[in-house]
Amino acid sequence: MNVNGIHYRTIWVKETDRQVIQIIDQRHLPHRFILEDLVSLDDVFTAIKDMHVRGAGLIGATAGYGMYLAALEASRSDSFDTFLAEAAEKLKSARPTAMNLFWAVDKQLEAISSVASADEKISLAFQTAKKIADSDAEYCRRIGEQGVKLIEEISRSKGGKPVNILTHCNAGWLAFVDFGSATAPIYAAHDKDIDVHVWVDETRPRNQGAALTCWELGNHGVPHTLITDNAGGYLMQQGQVDLVIVGSDRTTYTGDVANKVGTYLKALAARDNNIPFYVALPSSTIDWKTEDGVKEIPIEQRDPDEVAFVDGWCEGEVKKVRICPENSPAANYAFDVTPARLVTGLITERGICKPNKDEILKLFPEIT
Ligand code: MRU
Repeated sequence: MNVNGIHYRTIWVKETDRQVIQIIDQRHLPHRFILEDLVSLDDVFTAIKDMHVRGAGLIGATAGYGMYLAALEASRSDSFDTFLAEAAEKLKSARPTAMNLFWAVDKQLEAISSVASADEKISLAFQTAKKIADSDAEYCRRIGEQGVKLIEEISRSKGGKPVNILTHCNAGWLAFVDFGSATAPIYAAHDKDIDVHVWVDETRPRNQGAALTCWELGNHGVPHTLITDNAGGYLMQQGQVDLVIVGSDRTTYTGDVANKVGTYLKALAARDNNIPFYVALPSSTIDWKTEDGVKEIPIEQRDPDEVAFVDGWCEGEVKKVRICPENSPAANYAFDVTPARLVTGLITERGICKPNKDEILKLFPEIT
């Protein structure tokens, strides 16, 4: 993705020092574009927990590099293996819902345990982190290739009139290493000169839609309109939504989808209005052990202040204001689970499938 004419991924190794990992600190977007250096396990833990980086794929890629930085630190500790095992647990505790975090840390543990010396472990941890990041970008690119077919078909059936796509939260370039999951088909369609327009849910409380998705789409020149989280149902009733595409933080092998809170309500409205509801995800987001997403996927609860306050750009600086009485309690559920029965299909790097065990396993037969 280009920012001011320069190509960026969301995470990379510093060119002049491979012990430094660089990220875009997403807390400052869209108002300021600020890069941050991560040089230790603690830096990575904080970056994930406090959402300097966020979104399933990017959390996974950052955790992959976190394990590499931990391996560097482990070589200076009393016991390499103990340090690394504790680092893995620490990273896994940073956020509970996104599957990619656990997937990436486990991939690193498996790789690192396959060699004996500290130098080999560090070198393999570096290669594995790079591989995790590269495969995330490549999977998202392929999701774009798969998903664009759906948009092409709708565009044809509308005689080339704009295809209106509603999305929730940010499952975009910023949530992965590049391209995004839900946005990849949209970027692919726009790049093929298919007329698309995106309804962007603001996505309270942290406003990833307003702050991040609008910023991304704007940078890429994709027509879009910011709407309140509650407007989607009305627009669907008015025939102004052709397709919903959202991302996923964790998808069970049975097709239930955990995504940013509010996704479930959009799926219900889409079903009531006969609108296709697709979920785009790389296979690193699939939880191959969990059957019932509603009952089993842990839902992150965050600081209630994220609900009680909003912040925004005012006279050259970010200001934070309270939006409820001082003594009103607030609760901050960060995700919800959309049951498979409300999902039209899953767009993966290997193709589009129905959200059920048999169809998912047909695309990923090596799992059985
Ligand atoms: O809390 P976040 O910002 O890390 O939440 C993740 C998301 O942005 C969304 O849930 C997204 O739709 C899926 S992540 C690819």
